[in-house]
Amino acid sequence: MPDGGGRDADDRARVHDSARTQFAATAEAYVHSAIHAAGDDLARLIEAITARLGSLAGRPALDVATGGGHTALALARAGAVVTASDLTPEMLAAAEAHLREAAPDAGVRFVRAAAEGLPFDGGAFEVVTCRIAAHHFADPRAFLAEARRVLAPGGVLGLIDNIAPEDVAAARGMNDVERLRDPSHVEAYPVSRWLGWAGEAGLEPVHLERFWRPKELETWLRRARTSAENEAALRAMLEAAPAPVRRYLLAPSGEASAPSRLRHEVMLLVASAGPV
Ligand SMILES: C[S@@+](CC[C@H](N)C(=O)[O-])C[C@H]1O[C@@H](n2cnc3c(N)ncnc32)[C@H](O)[C@@H]1O
Repeated sequence: MPDGGGRDADDRARVHDSARTQFAATAEAYVHSAIHAAGDDLARLIEAITARLGSLAGRPALDVATGGGHTALALARAGAVVTASDLTPEMLAAAEAHLREAAPDAGVRFVRAAAEGLPFDGGAFEVVTCRIAAHHFADPRAFLAEARRVLAPGGVLGLIDNIAPEDVAAARGMNDVERLRDPSHVEAYPVSRWLGWAGEAGLEPVHLERFWRPKELETWLRRARTSAENEAALRAMLEAAPAPVRRYLLAPSGEASAPSRLRHEVMLLVASAGPV
């Protein structure tokens, strides 16, 4: 597995196909998902960006991998002039229908685009966001380089994503569980990796939070439409997982057997594209 990038064009296309197939089939579920629609991380994301930039009113903002459009909606409600992009046409259509109802006057623009190749001019945005999506990207380093390119000087990237433990074996175990649930999961990375890549891209971290998001196993599996075969393998893998993986994905105490809940560790990173 390449380290956050370095895939050739065929491999990148294969990863994109896998994400499109997965999210075309599950688009509506992501519009209605409580975790995506109502997570309090959305308010904290807007707060952290505002703490850096001041009011977002009238500022051009890009939400990458918008999914059901929840982050785009939060930006629009904060007054930003929002462009929402995503790789999956069905997801964009679902987000557009969602925002037409939730914020009919917001004027959000929808653009089909891969995170690794954004079809926007350099410096076009003051804010770029990306929430709960980067673990699907073929090339997260290319995404960060693109985010940096489209940001105006002094602009900020607000990135939220599920992360992995720093321990390599535990991270591998955790990502194996994720891929059984959703084959378009590429990799969740430890915070240290994201910070290194942000630095390489010329983005300076100005705010970092980590928190746990508890989930019902059943709801999590149904949202991704995990096949019966993969679900059985995933449950067996969770039950037999080594202690560090169980502790990370289940709870500090772990659950005896047949877990019904799990949790994700999540990073909220705000990084600046240099001084204004
Ligand atoms: C879980 S959803 C995103 C949730 C959303 N950002 C929110 O805040 O509710 C993941 C999205 O990532 C998109 N995606 C996956 N790989 C992508 C890529 N390489 N470029 C752009 N979008 C991608 C999928 O189409 C899907 O809509």
